[in-house]
Amino acid sequence: MSIFRSILTGTGAYLPDRVLTNAELATKVDTSDAWIQERTGIKSRHIAADGQLTSDLAIAAARAAMDSAGISAADVDLIVQATATPDQTFPATATRVQAALGITRGAAFDIQAVCSGFVYALATADNFIRAGQSKCALVIGAETFSRILDWTDRTTCVLFADGAGAVVLQAEAASGHDSNSRGVLSTHLHADGRCNDLLYVDGGPSSTQTVGHLRMAGREVFRHAVTNLAAVTHEALAANGLSAADLDWIVPHQANIRIIDTTARKLGLSPDKVVTTVDHHGNTSAASVPLALAEAVADGRIRRGDLVLMEAMGGGFTWGAALVRM
Ligand code: ACO
Repeated sequence: MSIFRSILTGTGAYLPDRVLTNAELATKVDTSDAWIQERTGIKSRHIAADGQLTSDLAIAAARAAMDSAGISAADVDLIVQATATPDQTFPATATRVQAALGITRGAAFDIQAVCSGFVYALATADNFIRAGQSKCALVIGAETFSRILDWTDRTTCVLFADGAGAVVLQAEAASGHDSNSRGVLSTHLHADGRCNDLLYVDGGPSSTQTVGHLRMAGREVFRHAVTNLAAVTHEALAANGLSAADLDWIVPHQANIRIIDTTARKLGLSPDKVVTTVDHHGNTSAASVPLALAEAVADGRIRRGDLVLMEAMGGGFTWGAALVRM
């Protein structure tokens, strides 16, 4: 039986035009630019226009990723889209993306793991490819979190934002591989459903028949994030016989600069190996990792052959990591 591995051949991103600054937020709720920057590192974020849907953001990011990989619609046989803010309760937003891109074969479905969604989606697509069930996958993280925020709650509305990022994974036959081979080396996923009520949306089709608003116990989330993200990073490195010093880049979920810095310190990673976009993206949930990855690839920081670790944690809790040789 052939063995396949997934090569990451393209990245793409899309951010809505509208930029919302901390100064503007301070005119809506009792907050300040200084408080937001000091506690989170966020200076500004992008917000989708009225009528602009998660699928619109996803389609733009997916097109950019397909262009960068040099593939056409006919090549794609799988779309895995991570989102907690789908256009509709059903069908999956991935199917709208599929239709808009002119893709007519294979599977298309959404994954719900909130801020870890992209890592979950990448792991899922990688496993389809390893199993020989897919040859070319679009993996997307796209969100319009602005639609589920309580804009009167200063403890949450200053943190989250909108955007989309995407990657293309393509199957390559392999006789085996080590950590020097290109592609997804390993993925590691976790969940702990006992923490549901620390970060959630207070609505849903089955419970309230409404969409609901995001609610969060910020300090508790912070504490779990630092512990879980450091642990899953160690797990990914150990699984490949590597250490933190072997990493060229870490692309963390962009929730809060203090979570990113504390986790990097715990791992003994130099800050210049950490990709950060939280200052101008805010927390875009499932879009955050692929947006940061696409930005660092586009500006030439991340290059072919680099060893990149992506990690994220989100509501559930869910968390995970993916180690990729670009
Ligand atoms: N502006 C001004 N003051 C505020 C604001 C605001 N936007 N929000 C809260 N405060 C006030 C609080 O009311 C509180 O006031 P009090 O002392 O009078 O009661 C004070 O600031 C301190 O509040 P804390 O919640 O203790 O502030 P903390 O330093 O913990 O920072 C924050 C809050 C930024 C939410 C932090 O806990 C955090 O980053 N948590 C992680 C949450 C996160 O990133 N979630 C994203 C999803 S999960 C993930 O992606 C990993």
